[in-house]
Amino acid sequence: MPRYLSLGSLPKKRHTAHRVSPGYRHEGIYYEEVVSTQGFARAYSIVYHLRPPTRVRKVEAAGAWPVGRVEQPALRHHHLKTGKMPVAGDPVTGRVPMFTNADVTLWRCSPGEQQAELFRNAVADEIVFVHSGTGTLHTQFGRLPFRPFDYVVIPRCTTYRLDFEPAAGPPDLLVIESAGTIDFPRRYLNPDGQFRLGAPFAERDLHGPADLDTLDRNEDTPVLVKDGPRLTRYTLAHHPFDAVGWDGCVYPFTFNADDFEPITGTVHQPPPIHQTFEAAGGFVVCTFAPRLLDTHPDAIKVPYAHSNVESDEVLYYVRGNFGSRRGVEAGSFTLHPHGVPHGPHPGTIAASKDITRTDELAVMVDTFRPLFLTEQAVALDDPNYPYSWLE
Ligand SMILES: [Fe+2]
Repeated sequence: MPRYLSLGSLPKKRHTAHRVSPGYRHEGIYYEEVVSTQGFARAYSIVYHLRPPTRVRKVEAAGAWPVGRVEQPALRHHHLKTGKMPVAGDPVTGRVPMFTNADVTLWRCSPGEQQAELFRNAVADEIVFVHSGTGTLHTQFGRLPFRPFDYVVIPRCTTYRLDFEPAAGPPDLLVIESAGTIDFPRRYLNPDGQFRLGAPFAERDLHGPADLDTLDRNEDTPVLVKDGPRLTRYTLAHHPFDAVGWDGCVYPFTFNADDFEPITGTVHQPPPIHQTFEAAGGFVVCTFAPRLLDTHPDAIKVPYAHSNVESDEVLYYVRGNFGSRRGVEAGSFTLHPHGVPHGPHPGTIAASKDITRTDELAVMVDTFRPLFLTEQAVALDDPNYPYSWLE
């Protein structure tokens, strides 16, 4: 969880009247909402609203959004090129699922329209990785600007709208939908909860909402709620972004991949040095950021071949020249599953001998349970990729 933050107006003590005149129904107060996690046991925020957040006009079924996972007939490596996906839908409805298991679903999204209605994921945290595009995430916690290569972390149950600036070019997103709570690696934190000296990022690299935008709109406002594949449309009797203040440790925030300070060595360092997030035992997210390559005179500067033991490894290629791979491009996914070795492509060890740094940027999602391809991913899969290590 990010550090404690507060914005706007708060009463001196929790759970006491936050007075305003005349207030909704002339009751003279702002209305408190506790946004907690794991029941009331873990991090929470307290939000103060113009009106009670419970004013629901209508609840209606809004269909289902199933993720069609495909049982693979053979265990093998996969390579999908998604860099030129057709533009479709908006930042929510345009999402196309690629890989899934009980812990995580990875979506790609190249939206062509602004988000049509407010959205709320009721059972999953989301990390929206901004491959391209600039804009603002609007929530009850205020305005959160984002830019290319930001991880936008949105806690579950946050009602939001992702607005993109058309002048900044077409948006392109990787969305990581997580059943477990997104957190930082515990080893990055000291016993006092502060990022350790030497961790690859720290508090100053995390950005919460910049300012509040208190909307006083007593008008019906639909919110699309997703819990798993089920969709429900709630029509609220007022706009939910009516907070006058909040404080706590649960709120959306950004971390830019270019702010990841890579850890390098004289010889190749293992993938956990790139770790950025983890999700309650289900998976980790790593950032392969631009970095100096290993400096030992005999160092082999691309990763050693390895078998993924008890994990499936997805790499999403963002930017630059990927030294250990041939044939991948920005927007490619590779899936190297459990039980089968993979490593640098032929010729890449020799080609990297005199290179001193890499400009690659890639996002890795390592899951601890097997991943499934979706129907949409199968359509993009290169069946010859498993043979790409032959001369
Ligand atoms: Fe690997």
